Amino acid sequence: MIPYSAIKPYLFKLQPESAHHLVETFLRGTNICPSAYNPWIENHFVSHASLSQEILGRTFLNPVGLGAGFDKNATMIRGMQALGFGFTEIGTVTPKPQDGNPKPRMFRHVAEESIQNAMGFNNEGMHKVQQRLTKRFPFTTPIGVNIGKNKLTEDKDAISDYTTLLNTFKDLGDYFVINISSPNTPGLRDLQNEEFISELFGEAKKITEKPIFLKIAPDMEEAQAVELSKMAVKAGAAGIIATNTTIDYSLVSKPEAIGGISGAVLKEKAFKIFEAVAKELYGKTILISVGGIDSAEEAYKRIKAGASLVQVLSAIVFHGPTLIRDINVGLIELLKADGYENITEAIGADRK
Ligand SMILES: Cc1cc2nc3c(=O)[nH]c(=O)nc-3n(C[C@H](O)[C@H](O)[C@H](O)COP(=O)(O)O)c2cc1C
Repeated sequence: MIPYSAIKPYLFKLQPESAHHLVETFLRGTNICPSAYNPWIENHFVSHASLSQEILGRTFLNPVGLGAGFDKNATMIRGMQALGFGFTEIGTVTPKPQDGNPKPRMFRHVAEESIQNAMGFNNEGMHKVQQRLTKRFPFTTPIGVNIGKNKLTEDKDAISDYTTLLNTFKDLGDYFVINISSPNTPGLRDLQNEEFISELFGEAKKITEKPIFLKIAPDMEEAQAVELSKMAVKAGAAGIIATNTTIDYSLVSKPEAIGGISGAVLKEKAFKIFEAVAKELYGKTILISVGGIDSAEEAYKRIKAGASLVQVLSAIVFHGPTLIRDINVGLIELLKADGYENITEAIGADRK
């Protein structure tokens, strides 16, 4: 297999979005000829008794999942397994297809191993994605469906976008994520308020008993993030995903004027918000940590802080497809070194 270090310089010569399309085209091949990817699965997918847990009504063979935004249209579900992800969150999907913001809208901050994106929920719309998921159902590894409102849907009609999406995907997804924390849909983050969240989860719970998460932004005071998360759990959320991208442009040396930043520079901020939420909600709800995770040590830190699962996105761009295997192999070692037989013993160890 060609090492990523040999391919990366060529990929990085392309616009980030073109490089993403190229990778997507390659990974879509798993749909046409799944057996061709068996060596990849054997090489990348780590399943080990110490990493396996029953959660959200499914077996998660390893705790490292793909964060939303990489496989917006569910074209790469098998490909993500071939890269070793224990679960995949597709989307954000909106009811109607939409183009997203004008290009260019994805940028690399190479030295800082970070990405800035202003995609704006570009996706093929729920019907197309539903058809694709139906073809692949049932899934070998758990699938989360991250849902958002269309840009042109007024805030007063936003609930109906989310309930329409839940009705569409309720039999397909293993869990759902309410995304009101993207910085790239004007006004979306304003929905991070008690009235909207209570009403939304109230309606959502009538549609499905499957777990529904709230994904929060990192650009809040810790106290505000905790309040918002508590409110969501009280309203029926099964858990919290922290965090989405940040609009703190001071984190990179040459910020673009638009979009949210992810990757290494988000690590500390995402952890601080996650930890604040975990201090309050660990043991009362399920927590997923995302933002700047790029090593087994960082993933383990989030797990001990209270994360049942972690997600990775930007770091794959910089470290390549073997990263997920490396994180999982490293986790097995870290658990063993601490004398844990299974990940569930380590989850929230720092909270006890
Ligand atoms: C190009 C790109 C697109 C993204 N699109 C979405 C999205 O559609 N929905 C969402 O909830 N998060 C989206 N995110 C945020 C990621 O899911 C994740 O929360 C964030 O990037 C932090 O993780 P990371 O540092 O590992 O990338 C996107 C991130 C990137 C880099």
